[in-house]
Amino acid sequence: MDSPLAPEWLNVPQNTAALDPKIFSSGIDREDQEVTVQGIGVTKLVETYGSPLWVMEENDFRSRARAYVEAFNTAFASLCGGVDVFYASKALLTVQVAKWIKEEGLFIDTASGGELAIALRAGTDPAKIGLHGNNKSDEELQTAITKQIGRIVVDSLAELYRVERIAQELQLTARVMLRLTPGVDASTHEHIATAHEDQKFGLTMTPAPGVETSVAYQAVHFAAESQHIALLGLHSHIGSQIFDSQGFETAATRMLGFIAVLASEDIAINELDIGGGYGIAYTELDDPAAPETIATNLAEHMAAELQRLGIDCPRISIEPGRSIAGPAGMTIYTVGTTKTVWVEHDGSHFPRRYVAVDGGMSDNPRPVLYDADYTAVLANRISDAEPVLSRGVGKHCESGDIVVNSVYLPEDTEHGDLLVVPATGAYGHAMSSNYNMLPRPAIVAVKDGQAREIIRRETYDDLFAREVDL
Ligand code: LLP
Repeated sequence: MDSPLAPEWLNVPQNTAALDPKIFSSGIDREDQEVTVQGIGVTKLVETYGSPLWVMEENDFRSRARAYVEAFNTAFASLCGGVDVFYASKALLTVQVAKWIKEEGLFIDTASGGELAIALRAGTDPAKIGLHGNNKSDEELQTAITKQIGRIVVDSLAELYRVERIAQELQLTARVMLRLTPGVDASTHEHIATAHEDQKFGLTMTPAPGVETSVAYQAVHFAAESQHIALLGLHSHIGSQIFDSQGFETAATRMLGFIAVLASEDIAINELDIGGGYGIAYTELDDPAAPETIATNLAEHMAAELQRLGIDCPRISIEPGRSIAGPAGMTIYTVGTTKTVWVEHDGSHFPRRYVAVDGGMSDNPRPVLYDADYTAVLANRISDAEPVLSRGVGKHCESGDIVVNSVYLPEDTEHGDLLVVPATGAYGHAMSSNYNMLPRPAIVAVKDGQAREIIRRETYDDLFAREVDL
C-alpha cells in the first residue's frame, strides 16, 4: 500500500522514533533501539514491575520543583522579598512524592483530608501545608485547625463562618487565606477554568445586583474582625494548562486593586497567592512559556501595578502542580490488538490504525474528560516500517477510551510491543480508577540510574479488599 498523505488537519510528526525533549523527561533516551529511563530499558522495567507502568523520573520532578522556586524567587526578590512555592499535590501525591517536596524545601497544597493525611504522614511540617476545597467537611476543618496547618484557603462565606465556629470551639486560631474569583476567562478547557463568575469556586468580587459590597469584601471584613481567624491574605487560581502570563497578570491587577481598596480602610493584606495552572507540552504542538518567562512577566506587571496603586507588595505564593509532576512522568503500555479502519476527509480516504493497549481511561481519564492530546512512541525497538496514522486506545468498554488520539506509529506495531506515552506524571495516577475492575499500575521512581517502586501494582486481591461479605 502507498504511504497515505497525512490529512491536513493532523499536524502530527511522522518520525516514529524521535523523543522530543520538550515532551519527554530529561533522562529518557534510546539505547540499542530501546527507550531507556536513565539507562534502564523499558522492557526490563515492564518485566520487573508489570504493564502498564507509570514511571516517574525523580531527578526530573525534583529539578522542576527547584526551577519554580528559583525562577519566581529571582523574579520577585527585589519586589516582594521572594515567593513561597506550594506544590499542588492533587497532580500527583504519594508519601514518597510528599517527601521529595519536603526535601526540596517547597510548601504543599492539599485539596482534601486525604491529601492532608498523606502530607502529614510524609512528615511535612504542618506550617508548610495549605488546605483547599470548595466543600470542606467539619472534620477536615477540625484537623486542619488542630494541626495548626499553615493556611486554610477558605472558599465561601458559609465556610468562613464554619471555620470561625470550629476554631472557637477548639479555642484555637485558624490561619486563613480567602480564595476570590477575579473574573478572568482563562484560555483553557472549560472544566479546568476556575476564575470566571459562573462556576463553583471562590468568593466573588462582583457585588450582587442591588447590593453595595461583594461577598469577597464582606468576607475580608468578617475575617479581619474575627477573634479566632488570622487573615493571612488573598488567593486566586485562574485555571489549568495555561501557556502564557496574560491571565495571571489580569488576575493580579484585580487582586492588587482590591488589596489597595482594603489598605485604604486600614486592612493589611500581607500575602497574595496567584495559584497554579502553568501548562506543559503534551504533544509537539504545545508551546507553554517557561517558568522564568511567566515569573519575569508577572513580576514586571505587578511592579507597575504596585507603583500605580501606591501599595507595598504582599508576600507572593504560587501553586504549580502539573508543571512539576507531569513532564517527569510517563506510562509504558503493552500493545494487544490492532485493526485498521478507513476514514474519510475532504473526499479522500485514509487508513487509521487502532492500536489497543493494556490500560486506558482507568489510568488516564484525561483524553475522555478534556479531549486531552498525548503522543506515543514505539519503545521496545525502532522500526523502519511505514509510519501510519494511528489511534492508541485502551481496553475499557467505551469507544471514548482513547489513550492517544492521533500519532504516527510504524505499520508493523504489533501484539507485545511496548508504547511509551510521555508527560503522564500529573492527573493520571491521581485520577485513576478501577473501572472494569482493572488493577491500577505500579509507580516506579527512577533516581540516579536506580529504579524503585513507590506504589505497588494492584492485584485482584486488592479488588476484593473492601468487600464486606465475601
Ligand atoms: N491551585 C488550585 C487552587 C487548583 O485548583 C489547582 C488545580 C492547582 C493549584 C494546580 O493546577 P496545575 O498547576 O496542576 O494546573 N484534572 C485536571 C486538572 C484539574 C486542576 C484542578 N486544580 C487535568 O487533568 O487537567
